[in-house]
Amino acid sequence: MIEILKPAELARARDTGALVADILHTLRSRAAVGTNLLDIDRWAQAMIVGAGARSCYVDYEPSFGRGPFGHYICTGVNDAVLHGRPYDYTLADGDLLTLDLAVSLGGVAADAAISFVVGGSRPPESVAMISATERALSAGIAAAGPGARVGDVSHAIGSVLGEAGYPINTEFGGHGIGSTMHQDPHVPNTGQPGRGYRLRPGLLLALEPWVMADTAELVTDADGWTLRSATGCRTAHSEHTIAITGDGAEILTLPR
Ligand code: MF3
Ligand code: CO
Repeated sequence: MIEILKPAELARARDTGALVADILHTLRSRAAVGTNLLDIDRWAQAMIVGAGARSCYVDYEPSFGRGPFGHYICTGVNDAVLHGRPYDYTLADGDLLTLDLAVSLGGVAADAAISFVVGGSRPPESVAMISATERALSAGIAAAGPGARVGDVSHAIGSVLGEAGYPINTEFGGHGIGSTMHQDPHVPNTGQPGRGYRLRPGLLLALEPWVMADTAELVTDADGWTLRSATGCRTAHSEHTIAITGDGAEILTLPR
């Protein structure tokens, strides 16, 4: 189903988006060498509950996971790129960490993800990979607006990722979002301009370019959730929730 939000719902979506962004940025500032992924999960839980919001993850039981997710945030280290289930792991210098968070507040959900390097080192391949997903996200947002089609957004994202030299996986991508986290339309991370659903004001989209250094193939962890690169290579992921407006797109998941 595709939902078009009314102005009052869009106002609530702005609050949800700012909350998601604030939590992610707080967690980014706290994630250091020696931090355990389970600490990050507990901090996320406390901030979600403290804000009166609801986790979109903890009870989530989609076909692509095994049972309820059971945690409040996705934490992906190095080769773990999507749906990373927090576990007892202590972050080390140079780890490439992805945090992906979706919550619902006032009946509207927002979803965002950031990737960054933990500690003081700046491995060039990690920095380049993160930058490619961020630039692809910006290009996708710039291509989104009333009258544009999903294929225009997908093409913009895929062009940046492809030019940066990364293989593109189309099993998981962006999605509509609104009263629930995952809705139509699906927004693949590559596509053809002029094709697909035509965007309209009031539509919320979560755009989420993600890449793996040298493969497009995913493998599922023994936990039944965490998706890792098949070759063990590093990965990165950047995501914003945006609203289609009368004249373009507004990023909802920016800190206030
Ligand atoms: N937020 C993720 C996405 O970007 C979905 C996570 S599903 C979970 O679409 F259950 F793993 F949390
Ligand atoms: Co998403």
